[in-house]
Amino acid sequence: MTRSPIATVLQSENSPGKVLVSGWVRTKRDSKAFSFVEVNDGSCLSNLQIVADATLPGYEEAVLPLHTGASVEVIGEIVESQGKGQKWEMQASEVRLLGAADGDFPLQKKGHSMEFLRSIAHLRPRSNLFGAVFRVRSRMAYAIHQFFQDRGFVYVHTPIITASDCEGAGEMFRVVTTEGDEIHLGDEEFFGKPSYLTVSGQLEGETFACALSNIYTFGPTFRAENSHTSRHASEFWMIEPEMAFCDLEGDMDIAEEMVQYLVGDMLTSCAEDLAFFSRFVDKGLKERLEFVRDRPFERVTYEEAVQILNDSGEAFEYSVEYGANLQSEHERYLTETHFRCPTTVYNYPASIKPFYMRRNDDGKTVAAMDVLVPGIGELIGGSQREERLDFLRKNMAEHDLSEEEYDWYVDLRRYGSVKHAGFGLGFERLLMFVTGVANIRDVIPFPRTPGVADF
Ligand code: 4AD
Ligand code: MG
Repeated sequence: MTRSPIATVLQSENSPGKVLVSGWVRTKRDSKAFSFVEVNDGSCLSNLQIVADATLPGYEEAVLPLHTGASVEVIGEIVESQGKGQKWEMQASEVRLLGAADGDFPLQKKGHSMEFLRSIAHLRPRSNLFGAVFRVRSRMAYAIHQFFQDRGFVYVHTPIITASDCEGAGEMFRVVTTEGDEIHLGDEEFFGKPSYLTVSGQLEGETFACALSNIYTFGPTFRAENSHTSRHASEFWMIEPEMAFCDLEGDMDIAEEMVQYLVGDMLTSCAEDLAFFSRFVDKGLKERLEFVRDRPFERVTYEEAVQILNDSGEAFEYSVEYGANLQSEHERYLTETHFRCPTTVYNYPASIKPFYMRRNDDGKTVAAMDVLVPGIGELIGGSQREERLDFLRKNMAEHDLSEEEYDWYVDLRRYGSVKHAGFGLGFERLLMFVTGVANIRDVIPFPRTPGVADF
């Protein structure tokens, strides 16, 4: 008999008859005549309720000693449930105990703190919340591929080890080789020069856009920022589309369309998990997602944003002045309080942005954009790229970048240069946004943050 996922069983229109399911015991209640065993296999949020009669062969060996956390295999008939809340339950004809669980299984009770659950990252996927988070993570990854593949974008694998610092922030992890305690640097460097874990696949992505037109990357990125916030991780995943023959306007269009598409997919494809998040994590979640899916985003220039913030009368921790980076509190004020909807801010001062962004005709701003969403702040950062050789060279000189190191990047401007643009969407920020989960460490299976690389 082949195993049926519990999701398939519970979603059946008509009774699937006799099936075999496997999973982990969530709870068990014994009465004189029978036991109710709630089994979950992670295929969906719901448990399958199993009714095991005391007359069942092996009842005393397999059913009575079951503890929360034990693994079982059960064969039985799917029948209409007498209880409320679910359509089907199973009348067991055979219960096999696969792996007993000690009585100290940590997920017995509800109401554990998120901090505690992080300390048992190997077991937390067996909880309702984390099961839901990681099913959504999988589904959103699929939806991202679907969004781009449906539109003819080519998926490109950019390197994880690289010698370039795309964002110019210098906050990178160095790749070295070791022999015992010895670290090989300088002349002994494995790649012949200093190399790092990538902070972004963008520069390599641009080379492929300048050949295949529309591409995207989707992979891990690493930043050694020492920021202890709920929205920064040292290892996170980023989606970076790059479009040739595209300007900032087109870039913002795709970015906003993508966010609405993914939110729409969350609403239709993850309904059960979403209902759980709306009930236990963030009461206003579903309405907010519907709003985001259905309404156009606001667009303002950086200059207008600074004006709004200065006129707000709000007491910000960091003051707002033209030429300074918008802080997270400013971004959230714009999207949560002022516009009360996702907001795209564009045309930032060149002085606070990396070398590759295209200089606007005003000479002082660049064609950059950030998409800000309520509850998160910056979800997406992107720009039109500098496609003019002379401008790019000037930018590189201003940022102290060696033209030799980046000659391959400059070459794109020498041979058939075209306007092009792209952006990066932080995958975990998206997951926080669609689940309402407040800390980035709780949407990553095994999070890496300063001081933490457990498991
Ligand atoms: O704004 P960022 O730094 O942009 C880039 O890396 C560009 N090269 C993207 C491009 O144009 N192709 O990062 C993009 C997004 C941010 O908006 C944020 O959502 C996410 O990546 N991000 C992080 N997410 C989690 N932890 C961190 N430390 C992050 N840093 C950035
Ligand atoms: Mg950014």
